[in-house]
Amino acid sequence: MKVTVVGAGAVGASCAEYIAIKNFASEVVLVDIKEGYAEGKAMDLMQTASLNGFDTRVVGTTGDYTKTADSDICVITSGIPRKPGMTREELIGINAGIVKDVSSSLVKHSPNTIIIVVSNPMDTMTYLVHKTTNLPKNRIIGMGGALDSARFKYRLAEALEAPISDVDGMVIGGHSDKGMVPLTRLATRNSVPVTAFISEERLNQVKEDTKVGGATLTKLLGTSAWYAPGAAVSGLVQAIACDQKKIFPCSTFLEGEYGLNDLCIGVPVVLGKDGIEKIVELELTDAEKDHMKESAEGVSKTNGLLEL
Ligand code: LAC
Repeated sequence: MKVTVVGAGAVGASCAEYIAIKNFASEVVLVDIKEGYAEGKAMDLMQTASLNGFDTRVVGTTGDYTKTADSDICVITSGIPRKPGMTREELIGINAGIVKDVSSSLVKHSPNTIIIVVSNPMDTMTYLVHKTTNLPKNRIIGMGGALDSARFKYRLAEALEAPISDVDGMVIGGHSDKGMVPLTRLATRNSVPVTAFISEERLNQVKEDTKVGGATLTKLLGTSAWYAPGAAVSGLVQAIACDQKKIFPCSTFLEGEYGLNDLCIGVPVVLGKDGIEKIVELELTDAEKDHMKESAEGVSKTNGLLEL
């Protein structure tokens, strides 16, 4: 199993590190445009192998895509991250050009790969990959919901004063402050609805804190987060590499599912060796459907800024 990660910045490097530590891939190729940077990160990571006990070979390259040939999975993290006060949508101008070039170079050398898009605005970048490569839709996956759901579970555990392993919950919709739809109705603590333990008001606070999860960190760090995004990507990569058939909310191209068409947005999917093997259609309440529709309108508006 060969995995390429494009972008050796904080998110890409953290993603490569988690994949290596989990020890399921034979090779991780880290690509960056900054001379020597990916090679340096790869060497540093390889020097943790004996300490952390993994055999995954991590190699770095400055833009030589021949090294990525025949990758089973490619992750795109390249582009610029948010600065405090910026929305993910504001990154579209620079990142669209980068993501288009990177995905075309990746597909040239790995025509049957599965692409995971992390660069922001993520749903629109996933749509761009869909429109500009000839990969089938099950092989194009946007990473947002896995991260937003992890942040949701963190906030739920905090409110419930419970261990995170006791908590389950999912965030669907667009990967944006306004577009996220945390499904509070379905969130549970060890299979008991969380409303049995916390007030509606506290749960609304959890929802709002989840939606600005990325922005809160950007304000604290001065740039966007990397540990949770890297871990979320590694979870998707592992589910595909190990054919786990796990359910994650991911951004995928919709053709009528959830009443939505011609966009990529977060919905629950089953991930296995073929990428997105199934879109899981949940019965949503009218309020959740309205929120999802509003979220989709936001994503489509950003998609309209693409020069396709
Ligand atoms: C975040 C970025 C990765 O939410 O979108 O942290």
